[in-house]
Amino acid sequence: MKICCIGAGYVGGPTMAVIALKCPSIEVVVVDVSAKRITAWNSDQLPIYEPGLYDIIKQCRGRNLLFSTDMEKHISESDIIFISVNTPTKTSGLGAGKAADLTYWESAARTIADASKSDKIVVEKSTVPVRTAESLKRILTHNSKGINHEILSNPEFLAEGQAIQDLLKPDRVLIGGFETPQGRKAVQVLRDVYAHWVPEDRIIIANLWSAELSKLVANAFLAQRISSVNAISALCEATGADVSQVAYAVGKDSRIGPMFLNASIGFGGSSFKKDILNLVYICECNGLAEVADYWKLVVKINDYQKNRFVERVISSMFNTVAGKRIAVLGFACKKDTGDTRETPAIDVCKGLLEEKATLSIYDPQVTKEQIQHDLAMNNSDLNHSNYLQLTNPATIKQVGKASNAYEAAKGAHAVCILTEWDEFRKLDYQKIYESMQKPAFFFDGRNVVDPHKLRAIGFVVYSIGKPLMHG
Ligand code: NAD
Ligand code: UDX
Repeated sequence: MKICCIGAGYVGGPTMAVIALKCPSIEVVVVDVSAKRITAWNSDQLPIYEPGLYDIIKQCRGRNLLFSTDMEKHISESDIIFISVNTPTKTSGLGAGKAADLTYWESAARTIADASKSDKIVVEKSTVPVRTAESLKRILTHNSKGINHEILSNPEFLAEGQAIQDLLKPDRVLIGGFETPQGRKAVQVLRDVYAHWVPEDRIIIANLWSAELSKLVANAFLAQRISSVNAISALCEATGADVSQVAYAVGKDSRIGPMFLNASIGFGGSSFKKDILNLVYICECNGLAEVADYWKLVVKINDYQKNRFVERVISSMFNTVAGKRIAVLGFACKKDTGDTRETPAIDVCKGLLEEKATLSIYDPQVTKEQIQHDLAMNNSDLNHSNYLQLTNPATIKQVGKASNAYEAAKGAHAVCILTEWDEFRKLDYQKIYESMQKPAFFFDGRNVVDPHKLRAIGFVVYSIGKPLMHG
């Protein structure tokens, strides 16, 4: 059997690496339009950082795992084709700012239609709007060569920074197919691939529309939990309650559970915002305005949380950060990844830059070029940012990249923790305090430090959802 995956990104690369690892008898090829990406996958400098990934690539590359730009050849030779291309939010036209942009997805589908010379199973791995398989079917049959393309939905639930762990031991694998004899047969073929390492009871079979929709709903529920705890963090600050204690007590209820209740500066990452907005758009298209409004609030609270953090920094520092140096620790959207897509750090840094602060940013995985690119970029969705956009590249002069946390904090008026990297838990905060301007302000956007310990050193500390002073 041969599998081809179109799209060598955060999902396509790790997912296919794990299939190749667990199914040595299957030949797996990952193709992409980007020659640069493919070259990186074939080198020692992989295009993405993901713990454990490099070891698997080293083991399988050249054995039964290949990265190539020759899309036509590998598509035509394969039995199963995964589409794992990006499906970002549309930035213009109908549904701009909400609907999924299916340009890349459609282009991949057309390539499959053109390159196929025999029957194939085509698997939607990308996150797509519910009923996308209907359009896929039409595109695949557009040049009707008498070839049968059986479509499956197999959404990916991995989280970045823990992709390999998630792929090796998934909570579930979801496969949706058409309820026809050929559809059921195709489902069985894909189920057999996963059965090489995933226990049978973790492979869920559903109808195609349920599988497509489940992915959007899973992300909406996860994001909703974060917005719920973040909303409560504001109430905790107003009342003297501690959000960590509240989340712990609430999460002990087995019906609620303890995961995903960490208050933060807001969720980021490539999926949550785009998938909720996509869900909102689908609800609106189906005339479900109240349902759309309900989910919109999850994004609204997320924006509120980011703005609230910036306002707290400014108000604490005597209502001005102009000309002040602020050390920013962490820029990635979460720990253990270099991915900055939708990272809340972009909005927070832009908010501080608008107030004329100077930033010294340190992140163990994000490059200076990436930070500058992200901060110079206009937000594609103006509706969801309260801050003015940086159109003037000169503003970027206010931004520097430090090579470690100590360098970033040296001479700074304040430290802001924006990503929960483990190394920030172990820093010598006494040394950092001594190197800073006084009063030394500390804003912990991820609750990684003990505010009592930092106050004992002399810092003025603000932690999300925690009492501002002792007691
Ligand atoms: P990505 O941007 O990292 O990778 C997509 C790749 O597809 C790029 O390398 C791009 O060059 C390539 N591509 C685009 N159009 C192409 C075409 N027509 N032919 C060949 N290659 C093409 O995206 P990603 O993060 O891997 O996400 C892929 C999909 O998976 C999205 O729908 C996303 O919502 C979903 N998803 C992402 C995650 C995640 O954690 N990143 C998790 C679950 C699901
Ligand atoms: C998410 C989903 O978890 C995953 O199942 C899906 O396939 C893709 O989208 P990802 O965005 O990679 O994965 O990371 P995730 O761990 O979900 O974190 C997303 C954002 O939420 C990060 O910015 C993270 O810092 C934030 N977060 C997460 C919180 O603020 N609090 C939490 O308790 C958990």
